[in-house]
Amino acid sequence: MTEKLTIDSLYLHFPYCRHLCNYCDFYKNLNEKDPSYSVFEDTLAQMNDVHNEFLSNNGYQWSELETLYIGGGTPSLWGRSGADYLANLLAKNKVTFKDKYEFTMEVNPGSWSVEGLEQWMSHGVNRFSLGIQSLNPNFIKVLDRVHNIDDVYETLEFFNGRKLNFSVDFMLGLPYSKEYERNIREELNDILKYNPSHLSLYILTVNDHYKHFEKLPDEEWIEREYLEVAKILKEHGYDHYEVSNFAKPGLESIHNLNYWRMKSVAALGQSATGFLSETNIRYKWKVTGPTFVEEHLTEEERRIEDIYMGLRINDGLALSSFAKGFEAIAEAWDQRGLARLSEGRVSLTSKGFLLLDSLMDEIFRFEKDS
Ligand SMILES: C[S@@+](CC[C@H](N)C(=O)[O-])C[C@H]1O[C@@H](n2cnc3c(N)ncnc32)[C@H](O)[C@@H]1O
Ligand code: SF4
Repeated sequence: MTEKLTIDSLYLHFPYCRHLCNYCDFYKNLNEKDPSYSVFEDTLAQMNDVHNEFLSNNGYQWSELETLYIGGGTPSLWGRSGADYLANLLAKNKVTFKDKYEFTMEVNPGSWSVEGLEQWMSHGVNRFSLGIQSLNPNFIKVLDRVHNIDDVYETLEFFNGRKLNFSVDFMLGLPYSKEYERNIREELNDILKYNPSHLSLYILTVNDHYKHFEKLPDEEWIEREYLEVAKILKEHGYDHYEVSNFAKPGLESIHNLNYWRMKSVAALGQSATGFLSETNIRYKWKVTGPTFVEEHLTEEERRIEDIYMGLRINDGLALSSFAKGFEAIAEAWDQRGLARLSEGRVSLTSKGFLLLDSLMDEIFRFEKDS
């Protein structure tokens, strides 16, 4: 009998929020549409059956989980009963955790309760990711967040007070940055007092229908903000280990590293995307019911994705991943301060991360002409 392939990473999407922020493109609904989350839980149970059959048909079986990540939406709304529901679902699948595992839950500062989070922790959550975006109340208002600045500090006090392992999300390039003279250094100095193990700093991405589109800062502002953040966080001992992510050494997000390293990461929940590495299958759940769309990557598509993902993280890539002659390009990047070349591998610097898309274009042109 051929040996089964194993899955030890799972992403679960919780698609509800108390209020919808004006910039956000994630799949979500207002929680008042399904106040007890029973519609969601029924759909998830159906998805789980479909998914188990799909995994098995492709030669996979669950192993003990190394990582579980509940994102959204706002999973911290899924309180005590949600924690029990998920524990039952995992038990039904006969899935437990490895001795060393990471179980992350996203939290919105205006949408959590102590009892809810305690129940999640009793079922294994050992890492939280807080959506903060900015510590300046003007921006919290502009972004139309559901909470106020006091909720943010109350949440930070809770996590720091209990010495929990947590990450924080901030956004850069916010509308009215110039008008309100956003001072990212001050915000970072403030957040670092709460000792997060990890920080994500995303450049705001919106389309031209965005209500504050005209008030977005220019490229130059965003570049300066991004590079300033990278410099400050490095000075404070955080590694810039992915384009938008910084961690104290050893406290990187294992789940997200599995994704960037193109390992198998299963997914459940509307709009969630999973990847089966050995068979090159990507699947995305529909938002309408327990079905998904399946995509089979060709070898060439896989090779390009391996390059793109590899350059996003500071593992770097072997020069042998590229067509012959790439070394000259990597050396030119090195001289411009965009990359480091060491022992036959290339990895990007913070400045290189900022230019990742244009460097990828350069790679495509080079590969086409080789
Ligand atoms: C699912 S949310 C985090 C949890 C919770 N829903 C919240 O907002 O507090 C994930 C993160 O994605 C980032 N994000 C959302 N929309 C974005 C956008 N349009 N551009 C860049 N980052 C965005 C925010 O930093 C947000 O915290
Ligand atoms: S709370 Fe989070 S997921 Fe919900 S709309 Fe706002 S940014 Fe998006």
